[in-house]
Amino acid sequence: MPITKAILLVGGEGTRLRPLTLSTPKPMLPLAGYPITAHQIAKLAAAGITEVMLATSYRTEVFADWLAQQDYLDLQIKFAIEEVPLGTGGAIRNAADHMNLSDDESVVVLNGDVLSGHDLTQQLTQYAAAKAAASLHLVSVADPSSFGLVPTSDTGEVLAFLEKPKNAAEITTNQINAGCYILHCDVINQISQGVPSSVERDVFPALLTTKAKVIGYLDNTYFLDLGTPYSYVQGSADLVTGKVSSPLITKTGQAVIHPTAKVDPSAMVFGGSVVMAAAEISAGAVVSGSIIFENAKIDVNSQLFDSILGRNSKINSDLILTKIVVAENCTINTEIPAGVRVWPNLELTTN
Ligand code: GDD
Ligand code: MG
Repeated sequence: MPITKAILLVGGEGTRLRPLTLSTPKPMLPLAGYPITAHQIAKLAAAGITEVMLATSYRTEVFADWLAQQDYLDLQIKFAIEEVPLGTGGAIRNAADHMNLSDDESVVVLNGDVLSGHDLTQQLTQYAAAKAAASLHLVSVADPSSFGLVPTSDTGEVLAFLEKPKNAAEITTNQINAGCYILHCDVINQISQGVPSSVERDVFPALLTTKAKVIGYLDNTYFLDLGTPYSYVQGSADLVTGKVSSPLITKTGQAVIHPTAKVDPSAMVFGGSVVMAAAEISAGAVVSGSIIFENAKIDVNSQLFDSILGRNSKINSDLILTKIVVAENCTINTEIPAGVRVWPNLELTTN
């Protein structure tokens, strides 16, 4: 039967992206001007999905407020809220229990923090042809150590699933789980209800001990886990410049500048930067590969590279800053080293 339903796993706390995720859950952070979730929903819709269940736990209200302002005509978007986080496995079961799945139905499941250029339609076609119980999108990466390792046979059947190898000896493949699954409801029904579990550490390893057919869909087009500040800013820039596409981005270029933002003609904004509503980039300033949130300001002759400047925050004049993350309502009066993250409502000055 056609696959028309999807679950988005969007309940994580996004700890590696603090302070940005203190107020905004990771999937609601904007990429090229739209929340990560919006790009994923558009991709699902383009592949024929008509019902999306948001499996939330952390700050559900931010998703609800956003959804209230959207106008999804041909899509049903619903919430399956976890009172306590159920982990990726428990979240899938909980979401499916809210979906009225019929006996032979399968669903698409996406990690909520992945930017991918993979061909979901092709993955669905391969899954249907193989009559599999589960399909996992896989990619080959140079350093697989922070992912789920998924070796496959010559015919593409998944042989093992090892989440986050503990040492070099455990790294037997560079093929990793890219966070897009197609699961038959029989697989989901094997997950315990209301009990925390991990699809990566519990569900897949257990499934592989049975005779179930689990296949890999290897597609090495663009893949990025948006879980760290630098990968988040990189993903946004890659959408702006067109290195990866989204149905929501119809025009690519060096920057996206909101019509209400003020950019001095002598300033340079490039490298996939995004300048949001009412932000200001002053004379002589340089902004490359960065995200400037609403009402933030970069004063004259300052330069910002591969960084994030939060809502209402300001960088004063004549500073050069690279790979920094500044939360909302901050003022930066001094240069700070790459990698520094500034929590909300702070003013940084040197004596
Ligand atoms: N609803 C819900 N409940 N969602 C959750 C929970 C939960 O308890 N815990 C995590 N999630 C969501 C997160 O919001 C995120 O979208 C997704 O599940 C994956 O969690 P991450 O914390 O981002 O995991 P990861 O990046 O370390 O690893 C995962 O993604 C890799 C690919 O990017 C794993 O699936 C790896 O196997 C995979 O390689
Ligand atoms: Mg992740």
